[in-house]
Amino acid sequence: MRALKSIVSYPERGEGGNNRYRGNCSPKLIEDLIGYFKPNEICDYMCGSNTTKAAADKCGVISHTYDLHSGFDIMNCEIPERPEFVFWHPPYWDIVLYSDVMYKAADVKAKYGYDPRVLDLSRIPDWSKFVEAMNYAMMKQFAALEKGGRMAVLMGDIKKKGKLILYTDSARIRYDCPKG
Ligand SMILES: C[S@@+](CC[C@H](N)C(=O)[O-])C[C@H]1O[C@@H](n2cnc3c(N)ncnc32)[C@H](O)[C@@H]1O
Repeated sequence: MRALKSIVSYPERGEGGNNRYRGNCSPKLIEDLIGYFKPNEICDYMCGSNTTKAAADKCGVISHTYDLHSGFDIMNCEIPERPEFVFWHPPYWDIVLYSDVMYKAADVKAKYGYDPRVLDLSRIPDWSKFVEAMNYAMMKQFAALEKGGRMAVLMGDIKKKGKLILYTDSARIRYDCPKG
């Protein structure tokens, strides 16, 4: 087992999930989080190519994984469990589009009855609306946690037209000064 440090790097991605699903993460990060915090169960409400399930299976931990592509919308659906540990890896705003790019919107509509493009966080055109949605999704998952539960967030900052946009700064500003 690798030691979990505040700065991690996985030159070899490892097995599990799908490295062609854009914006996927290394299963080794999730394996290390499981190894460090030792949860009995892990939940992922934006599981993408299901890297979390692969990592959990490898570590012998129960997983509950969901995504907009398989009938779950974080903004409108109830969180079905009281999670002990949440791994959250949301879209990097619109840097990678998911619905109708990584999966067909028509397939989701046929199976689940909604158009995922309307609910997809990666399709929110405005940065401040994206930050608002992210704050809501964050608090919803955090509030669902079991007492003493934990949440790990993998979030990227964004560079657009030579400008670095720090999600953490934007989220804090909106949180501290809701009227500002
Ligand atoms: C960065 S990817 C997760 C990648 C994943 N960790 C992996 O390794 O494959 C973000 C995911 O958020 C999902 N998503 C976007 N908006 C959502 C919403 N409103 N509810 C649930 N999932 C959403 C996308 O479909 C996409 O699969």
